[in-house]
Amino acid sequence: QKADSENLRSPICCIMGHVDAGKTKLLDCIRGTNVQENEAGGITQQIGATYFPAEILKDKTRELKPDAALKVPGLLIIDTPGHESFINLRSRGSGLCDIAILVVDIMDGLKPQTVESLKLLKMRKTPFIVALNKVDRLYGWKTCQNAPFVKAKNQQCKDVQNEFNKRLTEIIGNFKEQGWNSDLYYKIKNKDMGETISIVPTSAISGEGIPDMLLLLVKWCQKTMVDKLTYSEKLQCTVLEVKASEGDGTTIDVVLVNGVLHEGDQIVVCGMQGPIVTTIRALSTPHPMKELRVKGTYLHHKEIKAAQFIKIAAQDLKHAIAGTNIFVVGPDDDLEVIKKLTMGDKKTVMDRTDKTGKGICVQAPTLGSLEALLDFLKTPEVNIPVGGIGIGPVHKKDVMKARVMLEKKKKEYATILAFDVKVSPDAWELADKYGVRIFIADTIYSLIHQFKAYLNTHKE
Ligand code: GTP
Ligand code: MG
Ligand code: NA
Repeated sequence: QKADSENLRSPICCIMGHVDAGKTKLLDCIRGTNVQENEAGGITQQIGATYFPAEILKDKTRELKPDAALKVPGLLIIDTPGHESFINLRSRGSGLCDIAILVVDIMDGLKPQTVESLKLLKMRKTPFIVALNKVDRLYGWKTCQNAPFVKAKNQQCKDVQNEFNKRLTEIIGNFKEQGWNSDLYYKIKNKDMGETISIVPTSAISGEGIPDMLLLLVKWCQKTMVDKLTYSEKLQCTVLEVKASEGDGTTIDVVLVNGVLHEGDQIVVCGMQGPIVTTIRALSTPHPMKELRVKGTYLHHKEIKAAQFIKIAAQDLKHAIAGTNIFVVGPDDDLEVIKKLTMGDKKTVMDRTDKTGKGICVQAPTLGSLEALLDFLKTPEVNIPVGGIGIGPVHKKDVMKARVMLEKKKKEYATILAFDVKVSPDAWELADKYGVRIFIADTIYSLIHQFKAYLNTHKE
């Protein structure tokens, strides 16, 4: 069945990388905005989103004379935080996108959250390119505002070019250590696309390499994802974040990947206490080239077609779970069936315990962070079985659950990994009494590290 190339939806692209690599600044550079400077401490703490219409992409890539016409209507870019404690948001972003940009600071090379992002992208089999950012910081760099990279590179003196090559070679070596081949994007032959990571050098301050980055993203999507990007009527819509907002009560920010939403549609949303059945009161989007996170005027819509980022206002959304899919109840649909479908995402995660029932207990504040933690425990390098799962603070009942492992003669599994959640005083007391171990940390690495260290001493 041949895909209709005239009916493509916008690709969804996620931007990831270590803290301060320049993710938000790169988007500011394309938008001509100052979102980054207005973030508290210059740190991104929420998922952001921007829509870039095709005309803008055409304009920004003009100097590279794009040979084939742009067939996608635009590009949706999701900005994620690089700070280590936001793995749930990085995980959610990488899970949603068609393609990703991994941003690496040329002065710093690969850092812990770069490596973590590589793992997430590999786990989810998401194609990605690398933006090797901050090239303007090379000593002696001559600014070539918004120029394609090769043109800018050719204007640099020998020393700058040598410095660039030296740092590039080091970073290609770092990727190799992580098990990835990589090279400058224009040196990679078509057949190696996807096997070898394409590196695009950029500056988010003076814009060098931005045309290359945008064109590479769009061309890659159009070349390799036509089927996936062909618009479908079947609703596919995921909750990005649940937000309390003045006036509207709670709203949800969603990514509409396929299908149409209307004002007045009856929807079912996955909630902590069960399915939420409600009616869409208002649908709004930020203006094109504006960031979803920035409060300002939104565009209101009676109906809206994928792909888009949308703010939905409706009643009773307070306990909606980010990362789950929403459903529209059509005239012929059975509400009870849709309710079951909607709760499927939560059930899928909550059912992810080891079949033997033997394993540690894990507890996290949200479904998304729990999922990220489970993904990491499952990787071959870590490989820790999970017997019990919980969302929210650790209480006495959770300790009782972990205690069962003592009876199964799996003493080391009588453990709770508490990721970024509180442990009640009675839970601590009970754990002490029965010999259940509780490890607490606000990063996944630290938790896994603590537990592995305990296992090692326990073996002797
Ligand atoms: P988090 O979202 O907090 O993880 O950081 P980020 O990756 O979004 O980085 P951000 O855009 O906040 O940039 C971090 C700092 O680096 C800011 O001070 C930027 O001005 C600076 N910066 C980003 N890109 C460039 C660049 O290309 N060149 C130079 N010289 N500075 C840059
Ligand atoms: Mg940022
Ligand atoms: Na930052």
